[in-house]
Amino acid sequence: MAAEFKNKIEFDTPGGPVAIEGPVEREYIASLTIDENLSNFRNPTRQKEALMIVADLPEGLVYIARQGQTIIGYLNFHYPSRYSRWSRHPRVLELGAIEVSRQWQRKGIATALLQEAFKNEVMEDYVVIINEFHQHWDLKGTKLNFWNYRKMLTKMYVRIGFKRKHTDDPEILEHAANMLLVRIGKNLNEAYVKAIDELAYQQSLVE
Ligand SMILES: CC(C)(COP(=O)(O)OP(=O)(O)OC[C@H]1O[C@@H](n2cnc3c(N)ncnc32)[C@H](O)[C@@H]1OP(=O)(O)O)[C@@H](O)C(=O)NCCC(=O)NCCS
Repeated sequence: MAAEFKNKIEFDTPGGPVAIEGPVEREYIASLTIDENLSNFRNPTRQKEALMIVADLPEGLVYIARQGQTIIGYLNFHYPSRYSRWSRHPRVLELGAIEVSRQWQRKGIATALLQEAFKNEVMEDYVVIINEFHQHWDLKGTKLNFWNYRKMLTKMYVRIGFKRKHTDDPEILEHAANMLLVRIGKNLNEAYVKAIDELAYQQSLVE
């Protein structure tokens, strides 16, 4: 998918200029270093490898925030796991992760990454889902509680066109702060919208 769209913007932050780029390819990610504080999900070396793997997927889309030769934030999309109920939808992408290095947070970088990614026309051909699980949140670093963290994320995603969606997915129901967000691409017809509604509630179909 990467070849369909290429973009780069220079973004001024109080910490200096930051480039927002994507979709980026594996080789480009490999040529950069990764900020040592991008460790919310896994250690930075493994995180860089994970981004390279996603960039290599046929559907994978990786956007980065770069300062000099260093990745200081990223956002990626891929198909949902084939074991997940969402994989049964014919036009679905999952926003896998978004992270900004701690010293660069609260400068609008995550918002810029999202805005840049959703300028990509390809997004209008997909339902994009986000599974937000509280255990991935940096409560300690941000000093926010579950509810304020969820509020912060919801505000950030809603601006880009996401809406919270109720579901009986046990992984979401496992904790009251978890949430599912969905963004329906403009080019999708009613059948695709109906399909995501049906997938949201599956337990009633289980005997
Ligand atoms: C969530 C995260 C990506 C936000 O990155 P960021 O670059 O700081 O976000 P932005 O600067 O674009 O801010 C987005 C909004 O959230 C608000 N916000 C961000 N951090 C906040 C904080 N610690 N406290 C209160 N509000 C906060 C901003 O004020 C902004 O709202 P505004 O535009 O109305 O002012 C970042 O905190 C992070 O990497 N967290 C760890 C990983 C994570 O939780 N990812 C999401 C789950 S996959």
